[in-house]
Amino acid sequence: MTQKIIAQGAEAKIILSNGFIIKDRIKKSYRVPELDNKIRRRRTRAEAKLLFKASEIIKSPKPFLQKEENYKIKMPFIDGEKLSEYLDDFQLKKQKKICRQIGKGVAKLHEQNIIHGDLTTSNMILKNDEIYFIDFGLGFVSRKFEDKAVDLHLLKQALEAKHFKNWEILWKEIEKSYSKYENSKIIFERLKAVEKRGRYKG
Ligand SMILES: Nc1ncnc2c1ncn2[C@@H]1O[C@H](COP(=O)(O)OP(=O)(O)O)[C@@H](O)[C@H]1O
Ligand SMILES: [Mg+2]
Repeated sequence: MTQKIIAQGAEAKIILSNGFIIKDRIKKSYRVPELDNKIRRRRTRAEAKLLFKASEIIKSPKPFLQKEENYKIKMPFIDGEKLSEYLDDFQLKKQKKICRQIGKGVAKLHEQNIIHGDLTTSNMILKNDEIYFIDFGLGFVSRKFEDKAVDLHLLKQALEAKHFKNWEILWKEIEKSYSKYENSKIIFERLKAVEKRGRYKG
């Protein structure tokens, strides 16, 4: 058995184990153990459920159903390139194409009322020219235009912060492809309101 920790965040350890990924929610010692167990179990289940739903709609690693492993999600390892690290290196034409895929993926999630909650390029992997969405740890289900607009807002901010050289061009591509989907007009209107609010806040 080969095991290797490939990422360690505040919430979870990501272990590559025999060609599979295990996302293991770590203990928080500042919480009472009973409560900590409950929270971790709840979050793990919620994330696995969303990931499963997403994987039936877009490219996402479909989690394996596990009964006894309460705090872990096992899923296929997407052996590709983490977009946050590679996007800027590609030619602009390829960057734009990737962004159209991102827009399409987010729109399909939103059509099914799945809010990702953390749309950054660190949560996207490029494999065989296709974008995989991962990390639904902050995701939830909502039909609200507001929640969809905020999801897009985070994505836009992430582009601006991390891929600032071309971010405006890239955002346009995302907009273009997202616009082909239901309610996109209303959601973009909402996005404008969300942005305005952001500007006036302190
Ligand atoms: N299924 C997967 N295939 C390949 N890499 C993964 C997979 N899941 C997670 N990773 C890697 O681990 C990192 C952290 O995983 P993620 O689910 O985003 O956890 P966190 O909630 O800590 O951000 C990702 O940015 C990615 O590099
Ligand atoms: Mg992540």
